[in-house]
Amino acid sequence: VSPDSSATLALSDAQTPLDALAARYGAAPDVVPAHWNATLDLLLDHRSVRAYRPDPLPAGTLETLVAAAQSASTSSNLQTWSVIAVTDPARKARLSAIASGQKHIAQVPLFLVFLADLARLGGIAERRGIAAEGLDYLELMIVAMVDAALAAQNAVVALESLGMSSVYIGDLRKNIEATAAELGLPPKVMPLFGLCVGYADPAVRTDVKPRLPQGVVLHREQYRTDQPDHSIAGYDEAMRAFQEMQGMAIETWTDKVVARVRSPAALLGRARMRESLRHLGFELR
Ligand SMILES: Cc1cc2nc3c(=O)[nH]c(=O)nc-3n(C[C@H](O)[C@H](O)[C@H](O)COP(=O)(O)O)c2cc1C
Repeated sequence: VSPDSSATLALSDAQTPLDALAARYGAAPDVVPAHWNATLDLLLDHRSVRAYRPDPLPAGTLETLVAAAQSASTSSNLQTWSVIAVTDPARKARLSAIASGQKHIAQVPLFLVFLADLARLGGIAERRGIAAEGLDYLELMIVAMVDAALAAQNAVVALESLGMSSVYIGDLRKNIEATAAELGLPPKVMPLFGLCVGYADPAVRTDVKPRLPQGVVLHREQYRTDQPDHSIAGYDEAMRAFQEMQGMAIETWTDKVVARVRSPAALLGRARMRESLRHLGFELR
């Protein structure tokens, strides 16, 4: 066990709980947190990183992250996910090309691809001579996708606790067949997303990205449809301040939402997902 593994789990001196909440919401918090500890400190400090140093990861890092990932809950303990660790520069470059050329895929020492994996259960049934008809139903696909996502996020929390950084790569789904071929996936295995893992380049500033006010996402007892519009307008302002701080192009969050949902073309190559998944052997009944 490397000595830094517990050291980074101390509360950071620089950040009070109120600072952390202010950064997370891009606004002065209107509640004082009832609880605080090093885990909350770590979770609220999360940020995706898109610029990395080339430094290798300490030996055993991959196995530690996978153990954390496997510690997540998994529906009925079916464990319907797998992960592929990619370190070969040529393969990372090809996966980067599939994902719109995102350069951080090639930069990081470790690129993980999380898979919704129904092939393992299918193989077990097949070896018993039993038809695995349940695998053809959307329900098991949902199980596999949820399992994979929970596992991946456990890995993210683990790697951040060790001083590493990451960014998910959903753009692998822009060409899911090409991704599956690159990774040699058998039928009934879907590449859900990638995860870049490495050490953040300290020369590139990355801040905590604000989230919607809690009142927008938190409903009590029943769903409220009378959301006040002003909460979201306030969020547009918080995101604008974030984009200015990061030197990013200014685009309000509501403009981004509208652009992303307006048409199939706005799904950026992912509008034919049902057809692609059928090619990968999923019936989705
Ligand atoms: C499933 C998933 C796929 C994502 N795909 C990409 C991606 O392809 N490229 C990228 O730069 N960021 C990607 N992200 C990162 C999100 O843009 C990021 O989480 C979001 O903007 C919030 O920022 P934060 O993680 O820094 O808080 C993805 C995130 C998730 C959860």
